[in-house]
Amino acid sequence: MTKVAVDLGTTATGEPAEMDLEELLSTRLLVQGNSGSGKSHLFRRILEQSAGFVQQAIIDPEGDFVSFSERFGHVVVDADRTPAELGRIAARIRQHRASVVLNLEGLDAEVQMSCAAAFLNGLFDADRHYWFPMLIAVDEAQIFAPSMAGEVADEARRISLGAMTNLMCRGRKRGLAGMIATQRLAKLAKNVAAEASNFLMGRTFLDIDMARAADLLGMDRRQAERFRDLQPGHFVALGPALSRRPLPVRIGSVETAGRSGRPVLMALPEASPEAMADLIFTAGADEPVALPPPPRAPREPVVSTHELLERVAGPRMAAGAAEAEPEADPIDAEELEQQIDEIIGELMSAPDAAFRPAPVLYQDFLVHCRLKRLGRTTLDMAAFRRRLGLARAGVGEGGADEAWAEVVARSEELPEDMQGVFLLIAKAARGGEPCPDDATLARAYGSHSPSRGRFLLTYMAERGFIASETDFRGNRVVTVAGPNWRTGPGVSKPTPGMTPRMRRA
Ligand SMILES: Nc1ncnc2c1ncn2[C@@H]1O[C@H](COP(=O)(O)OP(=O)(O)OP(=O)(O)O)[C@@H](O)[C@H]1O
Ligand SMILES: [Mg+2]
Repeated sequence: MTKVAVDLGTTATGEPAEMDLEELLSTRLLVQGNSGSGKSHLFRRILEQSAGFVQQAIIDPEGDFVSFSERFGHVVVDADRTPAELGRIAARIRQHRASVVLNLEGLDAEVQMSCAAAFLNGLFDADRHYWFPMLIAVDEAQIFAPSMAGEVADEARRISLGAMTNLMCRGRKRGLAGMIATQRLAKLAKNVAAEASNFLMGRTFLDIDMARAADLLGMDRRQAERFRDLQPGHFVALGPALSRRPLPVRIGSVETAGRSGRPVLMALPEASPEAMADLIFTAGADEPVALPPPPRAPREPVVSTHELLERVAGPRMAAGAAEAEPEADPIDAEELEQQIDEIIGELMSAPDAAFRPAPVLYQDFLVHCRLKRLGRTTLDMAAFRRRLGLARAGVGEGGADEAWAEVVARSEELPEDMQGVFLLIAKAARGGEPCPDDATLARAYGSHSPSRGRFLLTYMAERGFIASETDFRGNRVVTVAGPNWRTGPGVSKPTPGMTPRMRRA
């Protein structure tokens, strides 16, 4: 392999400043500098310059590398994946040598940590056939390998630190080369920082960070004072891939833009205080409005079944026929099915139908059957429940294919009132639609209480009908056992006035 020199920029004497890419892969890189010193710019420069030569994975806490991925063809891996999925994706990334950006934008620190850990561990655990060299860039590395226990849960910290330690300490043999950046060395776990043999030190103000930088570089503290005076975009380079002696370099320009530019002063708006007040106190046309829950439709007055039957069949009964059952008109099976569907459809169209218990609806159903002169033997209670479940799930019994038939057969092993919920999920999973939220599940069960929806999921999962997982964005993904259909990520508890799309945007 020919030597590949990554062009960083220029040295103080105007010479090109280069980094030996192959050497970097076995000796790793640590970048330190205060906020605004130019670390992310430097990362971008290195990644742009080396994209054509080495497989890359960029852990992107801020969503800064979107334009980069577009320009260089990196695949963006979003966090709407479950831990197991992300691990498998990471394994495929190694197998196919794909360059990727792991987008962690908008996630809580703790979730970012678990997500990066699942991903890094997946890369690390890849089959040894696929240990191709790979550059792993972790900006804001102190998030993932903090030196001290902070606000995040110990467990998240332990897992994330473990993954970062693997990357930096044990990754080399497996082809993984870490390149990490941090604002403050003192905040980065010592063992993680210590494994890098190449350094690019930018402007540093705090004594404690300066002291740690001096230690790492083997400089005395007085020499390290020069880090205080560095301009943004200027770094001191040292290490086998860079320079044998501390070498000041000025980082060159980049082709793609991050989103975090330097704050630039701009003219203030000229609106009057009144106009301003109006602007901030009035909702814009495109703002989401938090709607109160719709009022419950008033229940129809409860009429006893007996009374209903009297009303409906009154005249005949009054005529003294003790067995007032009207003679069923002879109709063929297909038409009967159609009539039953129609009746159930009508029942379901009543405002409160979703929440009325099946036995009550069954009575109504029988009344309708009488009205249509279908006779009494149309459906028994159990069959009615099942049909009701299908209707509540929005699944017609007709038109179902073999896979569906299997799922419906499976559903019959569940308590009758849960079958519809199971089928509702199966329907969403089959179409790859988002998993229904708690309230929708509860409604399919005939309950107003969203917590009922969660209970149903747990019940079905414990009995092996489904597997329910949560992705790193907090969305629920359900797999239906048997056909292994999988729903898309769905919000379990939607915020009023917010659609799932808006939450994920
Ligand atoms: N070598 C350079 N040439 C031109 N502009 C630069 C250079 N280095 C940094 N900048 C600019 O300086 C600003 C801050 O740089 P950057 O975002 O890289 O800082 P940072 O060290 O990553 O800060 P933070 O720690 O807050 O993320 C950016 O607008 C960037 O474009
Ligand atoms: Mg930065």
